[in-house]
Amino acid sequence: MSDLLPYGNVGYEAFLVFLSYVYTGKVKASPVEVSTCVDDGCLHVACRPAISFAVELTYAASVFQVPELVSLFQRRLLNFVDKAIVEDVIPILVVAFHCQLQQVLSRCIDQVVRSDLDTISLEKELPFEVAQNVRSLRNNFQDNDEHTVEVESEGAILEKRIKSIHKALDCDDVELLNLILDESKITLDEACALHYVVSYCDKKVAKEVLDLNRADVNLRNSRGYTVLHVAAMRKEPSIIVSLLNKGANASDTTHDGQSAVSICRRLTRPKDYHAKIEHGQETNKDRICIDVLEREIRRNPMIGDVSVCSSEVADDLHMKLINLENRVAFARLLFPSEAKLAMEIAHAQTTSEFPGLLGSKGSNGNLREMDLNETPLVQNKRMLSRMEALSRTVEMGRRYFPHCSAVLDNFMKDELHELVDMENSALEEQEIKRTRYVELKEEVQRAFTKDKAELDRGLSSSMNTPTGRHGGKNKARKYS
Ligand SMILES: *[C@@H]1O[C@H](CO)[C@@H](O)[C@H](O)[C@H]1NC(C)=O
Repeated sequence: MSDLLPYGNVGYEAFLVFLSYVYTGKVKASPVEVSTCVDDGCLHVACRPAISFAVELTYAASVFQVPELVSLFQRRLLNFVDKAIVEDVIPILVVAFHCQLQQVLSRCIDQVVRSDLDTISLEKELPFEVAQNVRSLRNNFQDNDEHTVEVESEGAILEKRIKSIHKALDCDDVELLNLILDESKITLDEACALHYVVSYCDKKVAKEVLDLNRADVNLRNSRGYTVLHVAAMRKEPSIIVSLLNKGANASDTTHDGQSAVSICRRLTRPKDYHAKIEHGQETNKDRICIDVLEREIRRNPMIGDVSVCSSEVADDLHMKLINLENRVAFARLLFPSEAKLAMEIAHAQTTSEFPGLLGSKGSNGNLREMDLNETPLVQNKRMLSRMEALSRTVEMGRRYFPHCSAVLDNFMKDELHELVDMENSALEEQEIKRTRYVELKEEVQRAFTKDKAELDRGLSSSMNTPTGRHGGKNKARKYS
């Protein structure tokens, strides 16, 4: 399908509806789980999933050349254009452009011209010709403003600086960004750089820019959206968590009363939201975004987070580290997506593992060798930084994924009891327990290695394309 449709996408359910039309000549009703959203206040008249489903069917009808179906969906799309917010008009515009639905296209362009959609979004999200068309149409509207000419030159300089910031971000070049900020009179806020980075850049770059702490995370752009609102539209959990962690206010609403959660909900299909969650499987990303934002609103910031680590274990540094290492390893086994997120935010991936329980079988030759050459001081330092990263991971886990953390708490407690019990119980029983324990350890080890390999692959592939000029583009919105 992706060969046939390089610019669009037809999901499974849409394809079934299409096939059924081919065989029966009738269009079945759109399945609710993929053509509505999970916002209770939405009538699903023109929410994104409803639009996306019609868009998918339009692509299918067009690529397999079924003209009656195309014209039927053309009418449906036209119906959406008047009711949808401008962000949701974009996917309609894109399908109309690629499938040459002139009437739909001109209606969409008309909507966009009259909307407050900013020039950056125009350039990033619309086909080039369409964006140019929109710009010239907008200029026709405004060219009787004679006395703006005076401020023009100052405005032009500012605009140039803003452009240079965006360019640096497009190249994932945070160093250059810092340089520009130091050298020229412009701030990240003046360029709405956080909005830009959370919309269009790689999530790692977004995190780096946030970590500069040089911008207001609660800034609103010209359209009244906070950074978190824009991040909610992209539905990338790690960016949302990073923002909350930097103090973004999850309760802020847009001018028309939407919060970050309701934005997310309105973009999320029931099918994705209710996807069955089992321990050890990836949780759906949309679901994580919604859960994290909802919990953040309920969380009372005055109470703060309770103790990071209940210290049932000895104070001994080694013991603590092993305990943390195991906890995080179990977390990665039971809740892979949540654990990965927590580790990302806590920078735990950049520190090297301590060969705790998991490495005790001596499978890790490298670390052993390294240990010999390390002075105790260096080793301690490495252990400490690893421990800090792991503690932060656990802390992040407790804050954003309390349910998972509770499961882990119980799990860790059971594990410890079993270990202690071993000393007092009958020999036979000990043997069974020991076997089970070894099995469990091996299971964790396998999951850990797999996770690690994936992570390393992810790292090296991103290193191979360090500039990635176009890497950040079009990532924010997928017209699917
Ligand atoms: C967050 O936003 C809400 C609604 O705009 C506001 O009432 C609240 O005071 C804000 N919280 C903080 C900590 O600024």
